[in-house]
Amino acid sequence: MTATDQTPRVPADAAAEWVARWDAQQEGYIPFREERFAVHADVVAAALEGVEAPVVVDLGCGPGSLTARLAERLPGAAFIGVDADPLLLGLAEAHYGDTARWVRADLADPSWTEALPPVVHAAVSTTALHWMGREALAALYRSLAARTAPGGVFANADHMPLPEARMNALAAAVGRGRTGRAEAGGRGEREEWGPWWDAALADDRLAPLRAEKRPTPQTTEDAPTGAAEHHHGSNLLSAADHVELLSGAGYSSAGVVWQAGDDHMVVAVR
Ligand SMILES: C[S@@+](CC[C@H](N)C(=O)[O-])C[C@H]1O[C@@H](n2cnc3c(N)ncnc32)[C@H](O)[C@@H]1O
Repeated sequence: MTATDQTPRVPADAAAEWVARWDAQQEGYIPFREERFAVHADVVAAALEGVEAPVVVDLGCGPGSLTARLAERLPGAAFIGVDADPLLLGLAEAHYGDTARWVRADLADPSWTEALPPVVHAAVSTTALHWMGREALAALYRSLAARTAPGGVFANADHMPLPEARMNALAAAVGRGRTGRAEAGGRGEREEWGPWWDAALADDRLAPLRAEKRPTPQTTEDAPTGAAEHHHGSNLLSAADHVELLSGAGYSSAGVVWQAGDDHMVVAVR
């Protein structure tokens, strides 16, 4: 695990351009992604109302999009963004600077929690835990619960399959409809994941981040990884599975607070 204090800098304009291009690419997979960020902020702000200087951790923060949105809503909070990928984390640091402490760590390695203070008040994640196998995720939830202050919150938004094929087919139709409506809102043609990575890795302005040692892809018995280095498979856990794991990890209540098709936000309170 490394803090990114010594990450080589990339030009500010390049970082801004690549973070914006990341957000546009991700919006192709998560229609109305900004609205989902706002829901995250609603949950965290409500749960932490009255807490002085709360500590908020973003798991799999990527280039810092959710951290930055939450920081706007919670100006008194301290943020820690955790991610395994040096290029994405380097973009977060270059673009959002000291909005957060940016920590490079593998969330499937239990030692990642050494980057945390003894007590945190919220842990959030967006489109980032689907690659973790059930056992690794259960361990992550237990370690988070153990460090979360009473009344503190966990909020994870991600695509989570519904438990039955016909429901999944209808959820997919909802996803297509929402994507179409988002694009009708003027967002236009989407860049996909693979071309984004190909272009980012070919941009010499990002060479200092590209030269960083790449993380070893995580494999567990039940965590499929995709063929491409940066693409991770899905653990196929439903929202109900997440609720069960969170309840078993020591959170006092857990449930779905927001859903659109297979896009869910699962929340738990310590
Ligand atoms: C689809 S991206 C989402 C990033 C960000 N949350 C967002 O929504 O823009 C998935 C993120 O999970 C991170 N990730 C994948 N495996 C990881 C691991 N073993 N430990 C920590 N982060 C990991 C990736 O580096 C990537 O930033």
